[in-house]
Amino acid sequence: MISMICGEPPAATAHDTDPNQPMTGSDRDSRARHAALVAEIKAHDRRYYALDDPSITDAEYDRLFAALQALEAADPTLIDADSPTQRVGGQVRDGFASVRHAQPMLSLANGFDASDLEDFDRRVRKGLGLDADAPPVAYAAETKLDGLAISLRYEAGVLTVAATRGDGSTGEDVTHNVRTVRSIPLRLDTADPPEVLEVRGEIYMPRSGFDRLNDAQLEAGQKPFANPRNAAAGSLRQLDPNVTATRPLTMYCYGVGEIRGAPLPATHSATLEWLAALGLRTSPLSAVVEGASGALAYYDSVLQQRDGLAYDIDGVVIKVNGLADQLELGQVARAPRWALAMKFPPEEAQTEVLAIDVQVGRTGALTPVARLAPVRVGGVTVTNATLHNEDELRRRDVRVGDTVTVRRAGDVIPEIVRVELDRRPPDTAPFEMPAYSKSFDRERRIRGLEHFVSRRAMDIDGLGERIVAQLVDAGLVETPADLYTLEADALLALERMGEKSVDNLLGAIARSRRTTLSRFLYALGIPEVGEVTATAYAQHFGRLEPLLEADAETLMEIPDVGPVVARETVACLSDPATRTLITRLREEGGVHWPEHVNSGGEDGPLTGQTFVITGTLEAFTRDELTARLVALGARVTGSVSSKTRYLVAGSAAGSKLDKAQRLGVTVLDEAGVIELIEGR
Ligand code: IVH
Repeated sequence: MISMICGEPPAATAHDTDPNQPMTGSDRDSRARHAALVAEIKAHDRRYYALDDPSITDAEYDRLFAALQALEAADPTLIDADSPTQRVGGQVRDGFASVRHAQPMLSLANGFDASDLEDFDRRVRKGLGLDADAPPVAYAAETKLDGLAISLRYEAGVLTVAATRGDGSTGEDVTHNVRTVRSIPLRLDTADPPEVLEVRGEIYMPRSGFDRLNDAQLEAGQKPFANPRNAAAGSLRQLDPNVTATRPLTMYCYGVGEIRGAPLPATHSATLEWLAALGLRTSPLSAVVEGASGALAYYDSVLQQRDGLAYDIDGVVIKVNGLADQLELGQVARAPRWALAMKFPPEEAQTEVLAIDVQVGRTGALTPVARLAPVRVGGVTVTNATLHNEDELRRRDVRVGDTVTVRRAGDVIPEIVRVELDRRPPDTAPFEMPAYSKSFDRERRIRGLEHFVSRRAMDIDGLGERIVAQLVDAGLVETPADLYTLEADALLALERMGEKSVDNLLGAIARSRRTTLSRFLYALGIPEVGEVTATAYAQHFGRLEPLLEADAETLMEIPDVGPVVARETVACLSDPATRTLITRLREEGGVHWPEHVNSGGEDGPLTGQTFVITGTLEAFTRDELTARLVALGARVTGSVSSKTRYLVAGSAAGSKLDKAQRLGVTVLDEAGVIELIEGR
């Protein structure tokens, strides 16, 4: 709803009025007006974000917000740390500080079926010394939200620190980002706040917001997020809070960590009610149930509701309700004995295969795609699923008319789990890939050329899809080598080609002759060989000839090159058609590149840049990230010095991060390094 005006808030954060300075009448007026506006905006925020029940329009809200900003701009001493204006913007960070949790943030033991739940109940009863006649244990039952755990520390009622879970002992300080999440109060709604209250819960992105965000990502030419959880994590770990402010994050609170200066209620359920009364958002789906059978009924009922929820959940959490009982039960390893996460099975649904289409990819590879009767899986409507390639299609024998089970296991791209053979109609036939027909031939050629000329390959500017298709259709270009023998006259004869565009095009083609080995290899469109592998080949061999002679075993000595990539590379490079193409490109086309002997890091976009990796990464292991950086020409070392260009800091980064900050070394978080790698 709200259009935010982003920017750096004024620096003052407290009422720093000089007591020696008398207060004027107009001071008093603006202070009163400020207080009234703040109260009014907060009440609307609460209705909108925490209660989902707004009472004014967006435009009316925006007017109130603008009035508050104007007052504060005129008199910055009015600004208080919990003013609604303080949620917006803030400085871009160069990393995240570590936060040691006062009490560890534990994880949960998992259960998957009724017997796991019954075992849990049995252990709880035994732990509490309850005999068979004792009444059933009261459990607080909750949804298991699929977001990321967060700790909010309120001191004297004011939000002071927000931290991620990290490794459970130490997390990352994401206060600046959390402040932009509107449903999280900056000040607790009480006149008598505890000295310290550390609230714990899950930050997540509702499905609708996730869909909108991904639409926007695609529109901006950026990669969509795989699922709402990744989107929430990525949004919270932004270095620029202005970006986080635009992301539709929200939170449900599910517990308390450290508490000082106030007693906790006697039960978990009462604790949640107390948190709600303080203005914190709690899930309406929580319930108190009796014994294993009550917990199981709750599990079944939530499972039924799962598809219709506004957000992703991956199970339910069953917690012993009495806090004294929780204390008595204690914990094992990193999980409490008083709680169990009952996981849901991955989301599956059955539907019919309406058609199988074949798509032509960049390297000309053909990808069969199953078109499905629309079906809801994991909260989204699925209409197609990839069948990967012809071999896979044949192995699984998916046919038009089949009923298939599809799964969306925390991922947006659904997969076909199995064909329901007992439901196969009698008149189906195995799918035949379309014959290598003329139209496919043309399509394949165009895709291959488009890839060859693309920016990261030979980078021939001005050769868009339309012109490539024209060149192919006019018979002027069959293979990429033909591009280098094009003449102005032939081009001028094409529709919509004037002298100027012909000149530009020929200029761009001429400039592309001078290239690098890695670009050349990437441009060839070897199946399975993307930029990173092409660069790894270039670095490893330095020259083209030894690569052309290498067998699969030799290729597999290169980090990150597996048997499939090696096999495809050898098959493609030993194909006589590829050999002819390469010879023609070099001899007739004049394509050339500087040659090195085992250039070792001289032939990549990150050449000359030294990286250090620290902390725990989520998307890759350190070795994987090292291999990817090295493949792009970087050097990866173990210790930070003034020569370090970037420190990649995962969660729970320690002394290296401190040192990097002292030396002014640029710190990248995981999202940042991914952007760096993929942005090349
Ligand atoms: S309680 C000591 N309650 O699940 C218990 N966790 O596997 C600590 N989670 O890191 C967690 N919904 O991120 C709890 N209602 C809920 C939850 C929940 C989601 C997540 C949380 C935690 C993970 C543990």
